[in-house]
Amino acid sequence: MLNITNLQKTKLRLPPMALYIHIPWCSRKCPYCDFNSHERVKKIPERNYVEALIADIKNDLHLVQGRKLSSLFFGGGTPSLFTGSSISKVIQSAEKMIGFNDDVEITLEANPESVTPRKLQDFYQAGINRISIGVQTFSDQQLNLLGRMHSSHSAIQAVEMAKTAGFKRINIDLMHGLEGQNVSSALNDLQCAISTEVEHISWYQLTIEKNTMFFSNPPKLPDSQLISEIQEHGSQLLQSHSYEQYEISAFAKPRKQCTHNQNYWQFGDYIGIGAGAHGKITLNNEQTLVRTLRKRQPNNYLEKKNKGEKKCMSIEIPQRPLEFMMNVLRLKDGVPLKYFSERTGLHESHISKIIINLKKQGLMVDTEKQLLTTPLGFRFLDTILNRFL
Ligand SMILES: C[S@@+](CC[C@H](N)C(=O)[O-])C[C@H]1O[C@@H](n2cnc3c(N)ncnc32)[C@H](O)[C@@H]1O
Ligand code: SF4
Repeated sequence: MLNITNLQKTKLRLPPMALYIHIPWCSRKCPYCDFNSHERVKKIPERNYVEALIADIKNDLHLVQGRKLSSLFFGGGTPSLFTGSSISKVIQSAEKMIGFNDDVEITLEANPESVTPRKLQDFYQAGINRISIGVQTFSDQQLNLLGRMHSSHSAIQAVEMAKTAGFKRINIDLMHGLEGQNVSSALNDLQCAISTEVEHISWYQLTIEKNTMFFSNPPKLPDSQLISEIQEHGSQLLQSHSYEQYEISAFAKPRKQCTHNQNYWQFGDYIGIGAGAHGKITLNNEQTLVRTLRKRQPNNYLEKKNKGEKKCMSIEIPQRPLEFMMNVLRLKDGVPLKYFSERTGLHESHISKIIINLKKQGLMVDTEKQLLTTPLGFRFLDTILNRFL
């Protein structure tokens, strides 16, 4: 257990800065999804929303503290419902007001049914240089059970259209642990994704979340033994095609990891704009850490009087070690030990006893400079995290 009395502080350093842009509308709400996404009923107020996003950037400029953006991520909902011109306005405003690093990564999440060759070209022209396509599964029967609007064929077409539009950096989102799935059908999904030769595959285990249709009417999912088998064989298959697992659900070809997500897991900083978006910021001048949160309901968020408004909550000192560990230990290679003091403002001595014990139990690797789990520790992350409560 962590001793939270007399916590000795060190100086917080500014980590890299990213920008998350939330687009909260979808053509239809999927029965498993608890993201802040709303089925569009009328026409999406796209122009107003883009204005509100730009107002959010303006209002958060004081949080930037001289940094340029290392990544931007348009997440959803379904950002590909927006036009290239709207996306371009947001990118240009961010560049003008904050500025970009030379190798800035700009990702947009796209649903297969909402893209056309023209639209993908527009996104590419707008400055999107990485596209994440939500495929979920290549089985038409499973797509149906998941309430998806696209087919396996249109998913493959979307990937091909993205390549033709010029995208070199493509991710495919897949889920496993689906109703009636066995090892062979889960591997078939991965094999289809591998065949497209994309550089990145996100492979999530389906979880049943509160406030979803699957929660009130749950499908019969594979048991934990079968899930473990699917995960073991799936990781092996991905690895044999040189997709390295670098986070619990993320696999990438060498040096093709997602900068934006890596920054998030390394306890880096990000500004969150749009309905329900949250951010995490190091305030160097005050030596504090804050989380920001914007209004969740698109209508409330869009009310004129709220323009740019957000809630700020400080991450108090006793919470910081657990919050830090919950992020960084998801990374297979961990992070340099010095990030702990630089990014929490607490001296390393506060966790050293716990780390020594975890190393003795074979859950963390016995290195001086890196915070890193062993393969056993990676499988039992919750056991490790409990020690930082
Ligand atoms: C922000 S979401 C949605 C992106 C996009 N709208 C789509 O549906 O393709 C990003 C990814 O989270 C995953 N996801 C969503 N709900 C999930 C759940 N309940 N369990 C596991 N993964 C989930 C899906 O793979 C999804 O593509
Ligand atoms: S999974 Fe994607 S498309 Fe489905 S409701 Fe959630 S955000 Fe929208």
